[in-house]
Amino acid sequence: MKRLRLTTAGESHGPGLTAVLSGLPAGLPVDKEKIALDMRRRMHGYGRGHRMQIEQDEAIIRGGVRDGQTLGSPVAFWIENRDFKNWSTVMDAYEVDPVQAEKKRLKSPRPGHADLAGGLKYLRRDLRDVLERASARESAARVAAGALAKLLLAHLGVEIRSGVRFLGAIGVDRPVPSWDDIQLVDDSSPLRAIHRDLEERMVELVDQAKKDGDTLGGAVTVIAHNVPVGLGSYVHWDEKLDGRLARALMSVPAVKAIEIGAAITASAGLGSSAHDAIGYSPESGWQRPTNRAGGLEGGVTNGEDIVITAYKKPISTLRKGLPSVDLDTLEPHRSQYERSDVTALPAAGVIAEAMMALVLADAALEKFGGDSLEEVLVHFEASCDLQRRWPAS
Ligand SMILES: Cc1cc2nc3c(=O)[nH]c(=O)nc-3n(C[C@H](O)[C@H](O)[C@H](O)COP(=O)(O)O)c2cc1C
Repeated sequence: MKRLRLTTAGESHGPGLTAVLSGLPAGLPVDKEKIALDMRRRMHGYGRGHRMQIEQDEAIIRGGVRDGQTLGSPVAFWIENRDFKNWSTVMDAYEVDPVQAEKKRLKSPRPGHADLAGGLKYLRRDLRDVLERASARESAARVAAGALAKLLLAHLGVEIRSGVRFLGAIGVDRPVPSWDDIQLVDDSSPLRAIHRDLEERMVELVDQAKKDGDTLGGAVTVIAHNVPVGLGSYVHWDEKLDGRLARALMSVPAVKAIEIGAAITASAGLGSSAHDAIGYSPESGWQRPTNRAGGLEGGVTNGEDIVITAYKKPISTLRKGLPSVDLDTLEPHRSQYERSDVTALPAAGVIAEAMMALVLADAALEKFGGDSLEEVLVHFEASCDLQRRWPAS
């Protein structure tokens, strides 16, 4: 990100998480309830483990906001880990209880996690030192920052929503969802499924996986609606917005593939059915009857909805374990079980929204930048006006 910069710190069972977001303009009204709503949405979802019953994530602002408005300085958030009280002897910054720490030591790395690679990289013998930071708990800090990015984007008319497109193989054959589909997602439904008719079967699948000590993956689709034309650029490879979005969404824990628009189906077909025809009418301006490109052409937003599906692998911590090795004996040993979700797809959608919001807000500030919200909006209106008049001189 060029204009916006997000740094997070904190461990899964440490005292809490810190997020610092720099680059927002001054004068952006900060809606406490909107931040709280996204924090709650991230915690929701059928198939989550016991941890989410302990936490009641609240993002407390510790800097950068005064009297309900941003100041243009970095915004700092603090999110307490309520579970820390159960881990203080093991996670204390200066001294841990050696007996308790040994009990909680992670010594048979879990395939699919950073455990083994992180242990070798940082030369940690207790793989908890890896797990604690690699855990998806960190994503709570991203959601808090993403909520601020969404507030900025709302001033430009942009909305972002997500839903579970498929879980396991249930729903895998359904077409790429549209904005109309995604608006039907009920945030209070067990799995925030885009296709409500599939939800009952999805819940049964989660129950079965849980019974079997197994886990599930799937895919979430995130859509940004009413996006200004011209965010991103084709002139340099690292400015292409498709790449920037893919990187950000790929960073959501356990996401292993990104699809923009209908890319997967389109790639297996012919060019004549892969692209979106261009039309124009004086009343409605530029028109695209389809949106297979998912709102991005040449790495630039084209005014259509940005549609991205993030494919998430099944959760790596299995109650029944996976083949691994004990670090002390170097003998085969099942991977250790650490309290875990069966699936976290609904939450992954909320995190993906936050990542999309951060990238789009960053790109919007690049194009319409200013030190205050007023200045950004003046630049935005001027740009819209010029585009409305284009190509007439
Ligand atoms: C919201 C959310 C919750 C997650 N919860 C768990 C979990 O309880 N147990 C687990 O093994 N992995 C969980 N994951 C996935 C791991 O964080 C992730 O697979 C791991 O950090 C390795 O990173 P990578 O899969 O991106 O390579 C979760 C992911 C997300 C997005």
